Amino acid sequence: MRKPFIAGNWKMNMTPSEGRAFAAELDKALKHTPVRIAVAPPFITIPAVVEVLKHSSIQVASQNMADHESGAYTGEVSPAMLKDAGVSVVILGHSERRSLYGETDAVVNAKLHLALKHEFDVILCVGETLEERESGKLEEVLKRQIVEGLKGVNGHAMSAITVAYEPVWAIGTGKTATPQDANDAHAFIRTVVEGLYGKSVAESLIIQYGGSVKPSNVSDLMAMEHIDGALVGGASLTLEQFVPIVTFDAR
Ligand code: 13P
Repeated sequence: MRKPFIAGNWKMNMTPSEGRAFAAELDKALKHTPVRIAVAPPFITIPAVVEVLKHSSIQVASQNMADHESGAYTGEVSPAMLKDAGVSVVILGHSERRSLYGETDAVVNAKLHLALKHEFDVILCVGETLEERESGKLEEVLKRQIVEGLKGVNGHAMSAITVAYEPVWAIGTGKTATPQDANDAHAFIRTVVEGLYGKSVAESLIIQYGGSVKPSNVSDLMAMEHIDGALVGGASLTLEQFVPIVTFDAR
């Protein structure tokens, strides 16, 4: 039985004061929810949110992390800094990091090893562009991102890893993958992971769907066999939308 995991990626939204106030409201609204929940504020907002959520079951995630331990990397944030600030989950390989900031599979893999060394849980994001999907490359792209992203990771470490399937064309566009299309992609990801680590690791892997998740589509998505959670962008920024997403009707 895979426990649902719903995470809100705030992207470049929420100042420290806004994040503090919002996290407090969220904590009040989501007490006793049987779902695993995380929020990922911008780096500078993390301490304010950790302060508010320190006694909460809502975990605090970062949206990114440096690929080095420390040193002359202007503008980067190290694993030790995130650990010390109270972060427990790191999101790696988000499509915006890949497409806007040039992160390759090799960079994502280096970050992932560093994150595991520092005992973070990781959400590894994968997903194809519209062009890749339309040219029949969906499986090739997903397989490459999974195999390269997880290179050198052993099966025991896989319990710390969640995969987020986020088709690039569905992010921030209002266009959601159909539950069937998303489920097919998730099933394929599980097959790739089974090839790498065997059936039991693959069957316990949590795979989130991300891309225009909203209160109106979350239940249909979560009803699918291989969809175990959601990575939510825009709709994680208001209580009106994020609370009903987290408390989706399980069917
Ligand atoms: P939206 O929910 O805004 O489409 O964003 C999805 C996403 O990128 C979450 O990481």
